[in-house]
Amino acid sequence: MYRYLRPLLFSLDPEAAHSLTINLLRIAGITPGLRKIIQDAFKVPDKPLHAFGLRFKNPVGLAAGYDKDGIGWRGLALLGFGHIEIGTVTPKPQSGNPRPRMFRLIDEEALINQLGFPGRGSRYVEKKISSSHSREIILGVNLGKNAATPLNLATQDYQFLIQRFYGLADYLVINISSPNTEGLRRLQVRQELAGLLESLVNICQKQEKEKKKKTPILIKISPDLSQNEMRDGLDIIIEHGIEGIIAANTTISREVISSEYSNCSGGLSGKPLAYRNTEMIREIANYTKGKLPIIGVGGIMGSADARAKLEAGASLVQVYTGLVYRGPGLVKSILQELPD
Ligand SMILES: Cc1cc2nc3c(=O)[nH]c(=O)nc-3n(C[C@H](O)[C@H](O)[C@H](O)COP(=O)(O)O)c2cc1C
Repeated sequence: MYRYLRPLLFSLDPEAAHSLTINLLRIAGITPGLRKIIQDAFKVPDKPLHAFGLRFKNPVGLAAGYDKDGIGWRGLALLGFGHIEIGTVTPKPQSGNPRPRMFRLIDEEALINQLGFPGRGSRYVEKKISSSHSREIILGVNLGKNAATPLNLATQDYQFLIQRFYGLADYLVINISSPNTEGLRRLQVRQELAGLLESLVNICQKQEKEKKKKTPILIKISPDLSQNEMRDGLDIIIEHGIEGIIAANTTISREVISSEYSNCSGGLSGKPLAYRNTEMIREIANYTKGKLPIIGVGGIMGSADARAKLEAGASLVQVYTGLVYRGPGLVKSILQELPD
């Protein structure tokens, strides 16, 4: 079916196609008759597992960036995902970078995006996920700073967001690895990371007491870190008792692509990212001796890619670009072929 839908979507500007898709998913998610049809069509086998103190019904999740404002997660959940990561959410609404800012590299099954966290802000997202209905799916919220917040005040944005979403989201992600917000990735450097985590851990401890509930915190890192930078970061992450890591975000490297877009700035995702991110997972798992749960993401276009990341040491995996190129049946096809 996606064979026929894809050319239609690809005839649109990538951001327009995305916006159409997420709105269709939003409608599907709240229309009872449609919900049932989609749910039956994309029914997936149960492959439950535990990570960061949470129970996931299967290891395949939706990566951050797809449902930035939490408008389509009810529809997305029907596609079989075991978890959905909403965001990146910033404290205040913001429009992001100038358009066009998303490009398809069709032959390479990749995307380049320069979005810069456009979104309706944290208050809007809070409303979207705080309904009293049972969710039946694990919802993570990925947090980022506003572009207008100077880097030396970034901690305040993250503190604010933790206070807003602690206890509401099932897990929270500190995103310090997107390449499209100026300076953000500097927060991954030893000194900055230690300072940031020190204050965030404090806020989390207060929140845990206040809300009488523990919300696991994960850090999402960049695949562009050198081995030493990554190891330094891991030492600090473990020292501060962070519950898990997401490896990894998009890359600014263009080494593995040969298309006309090799000079285009922004974050590259999709197939060309698969190998690098899998190796990063392996390095993290070896260095931490498997003690830090890993969500593996980057270039998963099918079951073999997901399996490679799980075998390298990931507990869970996420997809984004694969969904654009392979369609909504991707989750089901991955899960059907994964061993129990
Ligand atoms: C258009 C687009 C927007 C994204 N936005 C975000 C974001 O807001 N926050 C984030 O942490 N990652 C974001 N990502 C990165 C994805 O979550 C993921 O880490 C990356 O794309 C690699 O996975 P993939 O190859 O399966 O797409 C975005 C990716 C794409 C393609």
